[in-house]
Amino acid sequence: MDFVMDYKKIILITGGAGFIGSHVVRKMINKYPEYLIVNLDKLTYAGNLNNLKDVENKSNYKFENIDINNEDAIQILFEKYLFDGVIHLAAESHVDRSISNPSEFITTNVIGTLNLLNACRKNWKSFENKCFYHISTDEVYGSLGETGFFYETTSYDPRSPYSASKASSDHLVRAYGHTYSLPIKISNCSNNYGSHQFPEKLIPLIINNIQNKKPLPIYGKGENVRDWLWVEDHANAIDLIFQKGRFGETYNIGGHNEWKNIDLVNLLCDIMDNRLSNPKGESRKLITYVKDRAGHDLRYAIDASKIQKELGFIPSVSFEEGLANTIDWYLNNKEWLDNVTSGSYQNYYHQNYN
Ligand code: NAD
Ligand code: DAU
Repeated sequence: MDFVMDYKKIILITGGAGFIGSHVVRKMINKYPEYLIVNLDKLTYAGNLNNLKDVENKSNYKFENIDINNEDAIQILFEKYLFDGVIHLAAESHVDRSISNPSEFITTNVIGTLNLLNACRKNWKSFENKCFYHISTDEVYGSLGETGFFYETTSYDPRSPYSASKASSDHLVRAYGHTYSLPIKISNCSNNYGSHQFPEKLIPLIINNIQNKKPLPIYGKGENVRDWLWVEDHANAIDLIFQKGRFGETYNIGGHNEWKNIDLVNLLCDIMDNRLSNPKGESRKLITYVKDRAGHDLRYAIDASKIQKELGFIPSVSFEEGLANTIDWYLNNKEWLDNVTSGSYQNYYHQNYN
């Protein structure tokens, strides 16, 4: 294809129609007009091209509707574009779904990643100036007690089918780096929040349910702890690692921002009451304790000193700012929420939460 010659680099981003992927695609398109950004996505229930409406007509952007499990389609894609780099985000990402249907997680997250690694190995004649970057999760490290942090050196101890599938794919990526000298990078990030997140995940689920006056399900006692990072800061970190991170290395990314689930949900209730001009305490009445998630990890907390020291990464916004911005986005984009909660998600929601 002649037009691809016009670009300094051609970057494949997988899962670019999803939550984090759409923020990464937008950032790369806008920040690097000299790059061609190719977004590969199967468009599962979690993939939504509306997430990219504002950039879809940019000349340095192409969308390819492909399943990473389709080896033939991937090979054709690698022949069509001579990729310089791959930023791999496509995955099944929701822990609860992995508990009810583990197979899909193994197929997409493990075999799909293997297919992409094989395509790079086969099609990259030289590995010079190439990069395969896998976006992974802190859940591969297992669960923490009341104290301590996950370091890049922490042993893997995945405890859900989701985290086991991501741990497997991390191992495969490292094995391809070691065995075949494929130029790889990996990052393991904590919980993201922000705009365009599918409302099966805690923060958008709570915002959506408050708006619709539905119960707010808290698993177990609500004492589990997560370390929250604004999605645009994750996208900034991904850009930094892709451009400047060392090959063969792992970088942990986190927000130094730990919250017990119940404290976070109470905070969301209070901010929503304020935004919706509800009487004080109105939304908290919707809180409903439900059966705990099977094998529910107690606490995640990231030590992010490596990425801070090596690459100068620090989150750009406070949780207060990020959360306010996020809540405003969902309140101003009710149509987006209504669209994504109709259809297959509705069925899943009713089967699992009602
Ligand atoms: P998401 O579920 O919102 O998006 C996943 C995207 O991948 C969707 O667009 C979907 O259509 C696509 N996809 C799924 N299966 C596919 C397949 N077989 N072929 C091609 N495309 C496929 O997920 P997310 O929350 O944006 O997470 C993106 C990545 O970041 C995942 O790899 C996840 O493990 C990782 N991660 C997520 C978080 C988080 O808090 N959400 C934190 C750390 C790491
Ligand atoms: O840590 C990174 C991971 O964060 C990512 O790798 C995953 O892709 C992402 O989904 C997220 O996993 P969690 O399981 O931590 O996120 P979730 O939003 O599903 O849940 C956050 C916490 O809230 C968790 O302790 C479970 C709890 N929870 C969740 C839901 C959906 C509830 O109490 N009630 C709920 O309805």
